[in-house]
Amino acid sequence: MENLDQIVIRAQAEFAAISDAAQLEQAKARYLGKTGVITELFKGLGKLPPEEKRTAGAPINQAKQTVEAALEARREALKAAQLELQLAAAALDVTLPGRGNSIGGLHPVTRTLERIEGLFRSIGFEVADGPEIETDWHNFTALNTPEKHPARSMHDTFYIENAPDVLLRTHTSPVQIRYMQAHVARHRDAEVMAPIRIIAPGRVYRVDSDATHSPMFHQVEGLWVGEGVSFADLKGVVADFLRSFFETDELSVRFRPSFFPFTEPSAEIDVAFMSGAMKGRWLEIAGCGMVHPNVLRHGGVDPERYTGFAFGFGPDRLTMLRYGVNDLRLFFDGDLRFLSQFR
Ligand code: FA5
Ligand code: MG
Repeated sequence: MENLDQIVIRAQAEFAAISDAAQLEQAKARYLGKTGVITELFKGLGKLPPEEKRTAGAPINQAKQTVEAALEARREALKAAQLELQLAAAALDVTLPGRGNSIGGLHPVTRTLERIEGLFRSIGFEVADGPEIETDWHNFTALNTPEKHPARSMHDTFYIENAPDVLLRTHTSPVQIRYMQAHVARHRDAEVMAPIRIIAPGRVYRVDSDATHSPMFHQVEGLWVGEGVSFADLKGVVADFLRSFFETDELSVRFRPSFFPFTEPSAEIDVAFMSGAMKGRWLEIAGCGMVHPNVLRHGGVDPERYTGFAFGFGPDRLTMLRYGVNDLRLFFDGDLRFLSQFR
């Protein structure tokens, strides 16, 4: 039969192996409960004569106290472990760096567009717009570019299947026609037509892709129609605008003779890079010219009485020049490492 010491050692080992509070209470019952091993030993004392009871009872009492102490120690240990777990679960690492609020910013091309609008508004231009899905007539025919005209091949665009009469506009010039027609309708009864002085910024589309051409890009159309408007006015407005835009009087700008069906004479405008890897290289930033009489007619304006100039700037290219960026596709890749530099 197991002696008292063995019972105590077994109880201590059993308690130590338990890591669950409920199981510990069940183990306690096996030693100290109503039918527990130690309780049974006390019951056995009842049959002994009184003088033997005391000598036999003392070691059992001792064993009981030792088991109770082991039980209590284990209970405390389990409670402490439980608390430890709870603390770990709710841990707050105060050494982690803060998340902060991420700061957004305007896209560099948006900044350019806002800047252009501000500058032209300050000299009395209104801002107009037109649809990106345009009719073939507004995009080409009304701009003196009939169906078989070779100039249409300059604008290889995205056509829409089953809808041959609409396309993604290849330039903002159709806004000239839309605006002139609406303006003339508004001033039908006036003796002298109020001058038209607008810019029309927006997205345009072409089958193009290289460092200075993107299939989706931006243009800012300009149109000034009135009595006596001349090519000298065109040069003055453009030169003033460019000096203000680039904040310098020492800008290298050239007007290069060119051809557009909707202007006569026509020119293209180049500006040289002032900084970056492209420093000194020319970049075409706009087409321009005197509005062709046929275009004025399509807009409902009398070409015998009024003249006008028009231009079409490439604001993506102006953004390249302003920040010294040598590949325009970077603006549309959506790479935050690039874009966040303009915050
Ligand atoms: C035109 O689109 C004419 N409508 C401009 C015009 C308006 C002439 C009014 C006369 C009167 P052009 O194809 O050259 O012209 O384009 C004008 C400008 O848009 C270019 O100088 C260039 O700065 C920009 N551009 C043209 N194609 C792209 C492209 N794929 N990606 C980025 N910018 C472009
Ligand atoms: Mg061009």
